[in-house]
Amino acid sequence: MPPSAPHTPAARAYPEGGLAFPHRDLTGIGHLARHEILYLLDEAEQWVALNRQPHKRAALLAGLTIINAFFENSTRTLLSFEIAGKRLGADVVNMHAATSSVKKGETLIDTAMTLNAMRADAIVIRHASSGAVRLIAGKVDCPVLNAGDGQHEHPTQALLDALTIRHALHLPPGSDLNGVTVTICGDILHSRVARSNILALTALGARVRVCAPPALMPAEIAAMGVDVFHDFDAALAGADVVMMLRLQQERMQGQFIPSPREYRHLYGLTLDRLARAAPHALVMHPGPMNRGIEIDSQVADHAARSLITRQVESGVAIRMACLDVLTRRARAVPGWVVA
Ligand code: NCD
Repeated sequence: MPPSAPHTPAARAYPEGGLAFPHRDLTGIGHLARHEILYLLDEAEQWVALNRQPHKRAALLAGLTIINAFFENSTRTLLSFEIAGKRLGADVVNMHAATSSVKKGETLIDTAMTLNAMRADAIVIRHASSGAVRLIAGKVDCPVLNAGDGQHEHPTQALLDALTIRHALHLPPGSDLNGVTVTICGDILHSRVARSNILALTALGARVRVCAPPALMPAEIAAMGVDVFHDFDAALAGADVVMMLRLQQERMQGQFIPSPREYRHLYGLTLDRLARAAPHALVMHPGPMNRGIEIDSQVADHAARSLITRQVESGVAIRMACLDVLTRRARAVPGWVVA
C-alpha cells in the first residue's frame, strides 16, 4: 500500500475544479486557476507545522527519486527543494550544470533524456532560458517543476510569497488575498519572481503595483492587471506589503541604470521610505539581497516588519506540498488522475 497524504480539512473543499490539482507539471502560475493556487497553499500548511517539530521526517515519498537539475546558480531554491524532498522521505539527487556534461556541450534535450532514463519520479529544473522547463517537460515521463526559467516564471517563489503574506496577515487556510495591496519594486523587466508573483497575487485578489525605472519596466505590463509606477514614493503610499527585487545584472546587456548610487536614491527601500507605506506594512525580498542598493539593512533586518526569513521557511513547506501533490500519480494515491 502506498502511504497516503495527510490532508488538512480545508484542502479538499474546492468544488469549482473537481480535481483539486489536475496538472502533471508545475511550469508556471499562468496555467493555474485560483482554486489550484489555493489548494497548493493549503496543502503547505501541514508542512509548515511539521517543519517546526524537532522530528521533521515524513515517509510519503519513500522509494521515489527526485532530481534537482540546476543549470543556473541557486542557494535558497536548490537547498529548499533538496530539504523538501528529503523531509518527505524521497531520495534526492542534485545535478549542477557547472560540473555536468552540459559543460561538454550536451544539449538540453540530451540531458533531459538522460535524467528520464534514470527513472526519476520528479525533476526540478532551473535554467537561464525562458521556456527551457516547458521544453524538458515535453520530453520526459515524470512531473517537472520549474525552479526558475530565465525571465519567465518562478512558480514556487510566488506560492511561498503568497503563503508568507497569508500567515503574516493571520489569514486562515482557504483565504485569498482580497483587499491586500502589494507593491513590487525593482528590476521588473528581468524578474521571473515579479512575473509569477503578479500572476499569483492578482489571481488571489490582491491589488498589485509595480514600480521600476522606465528602462526596467516591461512595455505591456499593465495588461497583467497591475498599476504601473515609476515614482517609488507614490507606489508605496498605503501599501500593505512591499516586495523588493534585486537588479539582475547577469541578465542585462548594456547600461540599464545610471549608477547603483542613483538607483538606491530613487528606488532603494530605506526606513524613511517605508514610512510612506501603510503603518503595518511588511517587507519581502526573494533573495539574494544587495544590501545598500535595493534595500537597506535596517529594513531587511527589521524584526517586526521584515518577512524575509519567513519567506525562506515558507519555501520549504511549499516545495514539500508541490512535490507531494505532483507525485501522487506515481504513488497511485486514490482518486488521482491527470487530465
Ligand atoms: C530569485 C531567482 O533566482 O529568480 N531568487 C530566488 O529564487 N530566491 C531572484 C533573484 O535571483 O534575484
